[in-house]
Amino acid sequence: MSQRPTIRELRKISEREKRKLEEFGLKYVDEILIFTRALLIDQVGLYPESADKVLNEAVELTEEQGEAMTLRELEEKEKERKYLKTGSENLDKILQGGYLTRTVTELAGEYGSGKTQTCYTAIATALLPPEEGGLNTGDISVILMDTEDSFTSKRMTPIFQRFDINPEEALERVIVMRPRTSHEQLRKILTSLPTIREKNTRLFIIDSITKLLRIDFEGRSELYERQRMLLQTIETLRRIAKLYNMVALITNQVVAVPEETFNRKQVPAGGNILGHTVDTRLYIKRLPGDIRLVEILDSSWLPPGKTKIKITDSGITDP
Ligand SMILES: Nc1ncnc2c1ncn2[C@@H]1O[C@H](COP(=O)(O)OP(=O)(O)OP(=O)(O)O)[C@@H](O)[C@H]1O
Ligand SMILES: [Mg+2]
Repeated sequence: MSQRPTIRELRKISEREKRKLEEFGLKYVDEILIFTRALLIDQVGLYPESADKVLNEAVELTEEQGEAMTLRELEEKEKERKYLKTGSENLDKILQGGYLTRTVTELAGEYGSGKTQTCYTAIATALLPPEEGGLNTGDISVILMDTEDSFTSKRMTPIFQRFDINPEEALERVIVMRPRTSHEQLRKILTSLPTIREKNTRLFIIDSITKLLRIDFEGRSELYERQRMLLQTIETLRRIAKLYNMVALITNQVVAVPEETFNRKQVPAGGNILGHTVDTRLYIKRLPGDIRLVEILDSSWLPPGKTKIKITDSGITDP
């Protein structure tokens, strides 16, 4: 990404419109493609004509990146992808290496199933060097969007210690965001670009993605709006993960279904549409004690699979 064109190089919109993009946090033209037309108008404040123009120009200026590729070129590009180990070798195995960069992995499960603990384990492993299964090539950071206000350094300490990570140094690298509403959640993702660039963010966690949406949008009458917002939030995260070669992890609650589907009485909230928007969907099921069954419900690239993990104070591990 050496010669990425910048916002300065745009020719088809006015200086004033360019400044709006920069003030919102954009620096490179390829970042425009994270935004939909509606987001450019509603969030960045562009005029509708400018939004249309700039979306076209962004495509033109970044054409090289979007061009059709041969299978070999595609293979080369795939090599840039990295795996982040999960803390459980069993889970790494069914994921064929761990969480994959440039994709969104969803962790769904009922209360106390270990979604948060699984995320916190990833914070620690991300800070390990690549040869130890992490993403830390130097000065990296992790963003945690904590909608449940559950993150504490105290809870992280045993997890860092397990991986021989200095907790004091590590906490400098974990950026915690606490959105209060679902709108703020989306806005914080959109405005995180300067942080991601400057602090080299390689892991972006949202725990949980559905909590605020379920509060802000009530009942059947607002279901459509809620779904739209949910998809927009995830798709935005996915585009950022793709552009910046990040691992994206989101957690999701489960909802009861009246009839058993696939032998399950509960399914991830947000319905099937969400299932098609995330790249890999994992379902964590409680078993007696600290043991959990993790199942790949759906993945755009992995075969189905299931395995057992254990929840401990120092993160997830094999039973
Ligand atoms: N502060 C904590 N320190 C250590 N263990 C905890 C802590 N909070 C919860 N646990 C335990 O870790 C296990 C997994 O909890 P976790 O918070 O990861 O579940 P969760 O799936 O995120 O639940 P929720 O849907 O309520 O957010 C639970 O058995 C719980 O008892
Ligand atoms: Mg939780």
